[in-house]
Amino acid sequence: MNTLKARKINDNLFYIGADDRDLPIFEGMLAIPKGVSYNSYLITGSSNICMDLTKNTVSKDFLDKIKSVIGSNPVDYLVINHIEPDHSSGIVEFMARYPNVKIICNKKTTKLLDRYYDVKSNIIEVTDGETLELGDHKLTFFMTPMVHWPESMVAYCPDNKILFSQDIFGSFGALNGSVFDDEIDFDKDYLRETQRYFINIVGKYAKCAIDAVGKLNGIEIDMICPVHGVVWRKDPGKIIDTYVKLATQETLNELLIIYGSMYGNTKKMAELIAEGASQAGIKTVKIRDISFSDVSELVTDCWLSKGIVLGAPTFDSSIFPPMANLLEHLRHQNMKNNLWTYFSNYSWNGGADKVFKEFMDCIDANLVTDPIKLIGFPKEDESEALRDMGRKMAEAILGKKEDCNCSCCCNSGCKNVPGELSESILNKDHYELVKKFLSETVK
Ligand code: FEO
Repeated sequence: MNTLKARKINDNLFYIGADDRDLPIFEGMLAIPKGVSYNSYLITGSSNICMDLTKNTVSKDFLDKIKSVIGSNPVDYLVINHIEPDHSSGIVEFMARYPNVKIICNKKTTKLLDRYYDVKSNIIEVTDGETLELGDHKLTFFMTPMVHWPESMVAYCPDNKILFSQDIFGSFGALNGSVFDDEIDFDKDYLRETQRYFINIVGKYAKCAIDAVGKLNGIEIDMICPVHGVVWRKDPGKIIDTYVKLATQETLNELLIIYGSMYGNTKKMAELIAEGASQAGIKTVKIRDISFSDVSELVTDCWLSKGIVLGAPTFDSSIFPPMANLLEHLRHQNMKNNLWTYFSNYSWNGGADKVFKEFMDCIDANLVTDPIKLIGFPKEDESEALRDMGRKMAEAILGKKEDCNCSCCCNSGCKNVPGELSESILNKDHYELVKKFLSETVK
């Protein structure tokens, strides 16, 4: 029985995506307690065009929705803007129903269509900037490589000024009956899920995301239809602005302390650092126990917090394994706008401190203080040193450099100055491009 119907966007465009509430962990790594939507769109007219597919787990809902619009008529074209399986694995059921559909994609997608699904024929390849006339509709395609796969592209409908943006401008979070931005409270219910999505999925390729936004410069956009999250018909500028802030890693004046602790001593160190930070006047200090936090939440907090302090005990002459996992995730992020320090604990042999140092060297971290390493419970002088670490971090975040005497910023020749951000992801050209885009593109 067909119970779910497509949602009309305009006379010739329908939302035919579906929600996934059954998948606890996205891509086997990232918790999605609020679910996720796999969005697809159907353009109707003298030709029926399907814009991206869904994951195979929701194929029935997806196919039911197509049928609710066009009945037994065929889908003539399938556009694959992005072939990652959350948007393409439904192709088997889809092609069983529409075997004569012509697939529009780019050369890189063609290869993956074969490797993933053994699909080799009825393919129309498009190139960057190419426009196709498909019945009474026109679509222009722009390549957006590495946002976030090499084959990623977007499609633009010039007649209606609609951008089909694939993962760009997407979000975690099922749609809960809503489809449009004017039907939700974005800041309350979807901003964090958008941040988690961007940072964990696209974060490493933030510069490519800026390139993609810049590439659309001069195109008038009335509506954005991404493959996750809501359709932006009222205020597309809001999601563009949100994405630009994320892509440029705009941070908040907050201190984030992430610790792991086996018997409470490293936890005590974290609390002493927080105490010192608060004494120095910083208003927001976030403390996270790594053992009870999803890694995608921690990576998101790191991306958004200007100051980050990491702490862990030594385990088997190395670092507490949950912290090792976080460091590996952070290594992928290319974050450039944070101020860092770290602390560790051990009983008879160090190890965590060495792993932290390697990590900080690897990411070229802007270190504010020397690290602290101690055995067991912090004694009085060590407690004061930990409070001082917190104070210095707070001062650096708030830009109070005069009191700072850490070895990093006060030794001559150091390029990292607490309170001032090192090289931004957004260079001057990108900044101008994005500024121009935001002022000229979105009405
Ligand atoms: Fe939503 Fe990159 O797939």
